Amino acid sequence: MPLRVLVTGASGFVGGHIALGLAENSFHVIASGGLHECPLEVRCAAELTLSFNLQSQESILKLIEEARPDAIVHAAALANPSACEKNPEEARLVNVEGMKNLLAVFKSLPSKPLFIYISTDLVFDGGCAPEGGFREEDEAIPISVYGKSKLESERILLNEYEKAFVARICLVYGNELGGRQGFLTWTLGALNESKPLTLFVDEFRTPVYEDDVNRSIIEILSRYERNETSLSLLLNSSKQHSRLFHVPGSERISRYDFAKKLIKITGHPEKLLIPRSLKDVSLANPRSPDVSLCGEKIRHILGIRTLDVNEGLKKLTPLLKA
Ligand SMILES: NC(=O)c1ccc[n+]([C@@H]2O[C@H](COP(=O)([O-])OP(=O)(O)OC[C@H]3O[C@@H](n4cnc5c(N)ncnc54)[C@H](OP(=O)(O)O)[C@@H]3O)[C@@H](O)[C@H]2O)c1
Repeated sequence: MPLRVLVTGASGFVGGHIALGLAENSFHVIASGGLHECPLEVRCAAELTLSFNLQSQESILKLIEEARPDAIVHAAALANPSACEKNPEEARLVNVEGMKNLLAVFKSLPSKPLFIYISTDLVFDGGCAPEGGFREEDEAIPISVYGKSKLESERILLNEYEKAFVARICLVYGNELGGRQGFLTWTLGALNESKPLTLFVDEFRTPVYEDDVNRSIIEILSRYERNETSLSLLLNSSKQHSRLFHVPGSERISRYDFAKKLIKITGHPEKLLIPRSLKDVSLANPRSPDVSLCGEKIRHILGIRTLDVNEGLKKLTPLLKA
């Protein structure tokens, strides 16, 4: 029997793509949104679609009773850094207290499903990323409300629940899903409307193609299903960073250079891109200049080689040429 996997945040951009990716790879997916319905594609692909509220233990209990998961991929969050900065209390309630609420229910289950938590590169301060990007064993020191809430919830999970992995993903790009946009479709939308785009030349990320996130999650779930030693060793290790996976794309790039690669394919005029330095603006919210992550562990242990930006954009050619 294929694993039953509950995906939270499946009405959102990342969770929606993960739910679709898992369903396409024969997992039994139970997709759950929050306030919004999951996109049509997700509803069609999932075995069951539910909704719940992370802030209510009663609602979580009902969700778990209906879903009966062997594993959970927890992608639900208050994921917009500016919204978190404006409303730190809500960020805490959803991201930190929400994790505690989920764990209270999971710890009471006799079967102890595998828990995969989707976290972020913004747990790092990004003042000075090491050569090759931050590794799993590097100390995380977040500077934003969002980053702090995600790191706190990571720690709660890893301290309190043994069968857990954290996947720290980076800026994700892929098709828009149910109206939820990532950085790519947001940029493309502005270019299509001939809006000039001011982008930082010195804010570096390791953007990751959505299917590479899916492949990494699928690899973890498949090895768990096969009870593979490589995964049990990580789960049983006393070192907490053993249960962290960094899932970056294979190229460190600024948002400005990413957009330049994009318009090389789409043919939009380059003059729409306006380069800007972080040093020249006073920002309302803290921004991490370089939170590039190192993907060596997923390459070495999971055998996943993620795409660089040109390779990822090539996969999206039908979207870009539309
Ligand atoms: N997008 C990226 O580039 C990126 C990069 C790094 C990490 N991440 C991580 O990826 C995850 C998903 O991010 P995203 O960009 O896909 O965000 P998103 O599109 O805003 O989706 C957030 C999801 O969380 C759900 N949610 C929010 N509050 C909830 C609550 N109280 N109860 C239940 N569900 C709730 C939302 O449901 P409703 O809308 O239905 O209420 C939605 O499904 C987050 O954990 C984020 O930290 C994303």
